[in-house]
Amino acid sequence: MLTITHTQGRARRGEFVTPHGTVQTPAFMNVATAGAIRGAVSAYDLKDLKCQVQLCNTYHLHVRPGDDLIREYGGLHAFTGWDGPILTDSGGFQVFSLASLRKIKEEGVHFSSHVDGRKIFMGPEESMRIQSNLGSTIAMAFDECVENPAAYDYAAASCRRTVRWLKRCQAEMQRLNHLPDTLNKKQMLFGINQGCTFDDLRAQHMQEIAELNLDGYAIGGLAVGEPAEDMYRIIDTVTPFMPKDKPRYLMGVGTPVNILEAVRRGVDLFDCVMPSRNGRHAHVFTWEGIRNLNNEKYKLDHKPIDEECDCPACRRHSRAYIRHLFKCGEMLAMRLCVMHNLYFYNTLLEKIRFAIENAQFDELYVKFAPVLDKRI
Ligand code: GUN
Ligand code: ZN
Repeated sequence: MLTITHTQGRARRGEFVTPHGTVQTPAFMNVATAGAIRGAVSAYDLKDLKCQVQLCNTYHLHVRPGDDLIREYGGLHAFTGWDGPILTDSGGFQVFSLASLRKIKEEGVHFSSHVDGRKIFMGPEESMRIQSNLGSTIAMAFDECVENPAAYDYAAASCRRTVRWLKRCQAEMQRLNHLPDTLNKKQMLFGINQGCTFDDLRAQHMQEIAELNLDGYAIGGLAVGEPAEDMYRIIDTVTPFMPKDKPRYLMGVGTPVNILEAVRRGVDLFDCVMPSRNGRHAHVFTWEGIRNLNNEKYKLDHKPIDEECDCPACRRHSRAYIRHLFKCGEMLAMRLCVMHNLYFYNTLLEKIRFAIENAQFDELYVKFAPVLDKRI
């Protein structure tokens, strides 16, 4: 259940209660694919970075170290040292983006692991069993994320199958949650809307899955190379069919401006590799735009990455020092930039929540939408 405390236009400020704590929405979920944020950031750092939810990947953890091992250890919370909410992505997207020799059938997908080439089969039941072994707070449904652009007929047939897979996920999750030795008997399940860039497929698919009374609803298959305008139009197309009292999650999105645009259209949850990936490449988000710390112009710059930021990197270090660390290949360079970027994203979401509470979201949007994605 999502309790909405404030709205402004279609933007929603809410509280999402989970068995591992309450999430203040709109919220950003940081990506910890294999159980760790890339860039040497530990669970120990997360509270300092205002992180609320971690996102881990079923596919990666199944391949390595294996979900059996994590279950035997006591679950993903014990294993990673993070006791807050964890959302696991189903493997659907990763099977389609990473695995090779893929064969899709009604029962599921046969593919080869990207690590050792081992043959793996994953379908809705397998994905739910793995996520149950991981003991995550929220499991994502096993879906097919169709490439963009796609042929209409293929996309339509894929949507039909994703609905059948979702019903199988739901049945399997209910069975697993009732077994006596299940790690998290209150594991939640989110469905995922698909339909490529076809508005009628998107709308019909969302209407069908909205009837299943799931714990939340995601919009998938976006940020896969389509223009941002398509993404915004699809959000506008499907949100009218999304239950009002359930979290709405836009998967894999996005830039700070994408997030502002989506919140304005009624989205509550986001995840993206951008803060950590860009940080590892010296690209840092600031309230004035995006800097590249490798740039010569920072070589004697005493200022912190962002003059308004209170993150662990900005409290102590200068642009010149961090630029030097990158030049020397010091791990600390990446760590500082990843921490800064995560802090920046979580602060952006905090500002968004505060603005909706105070009916100031429009002002926030007008102030930041023109600048945050610009390279400076
Ligand atoms: N991550 C980003 N997009 C998607 C999607 O469409 N499906 C899944 N399962 N994960 C995603
Ligand atoms: Zn900072």
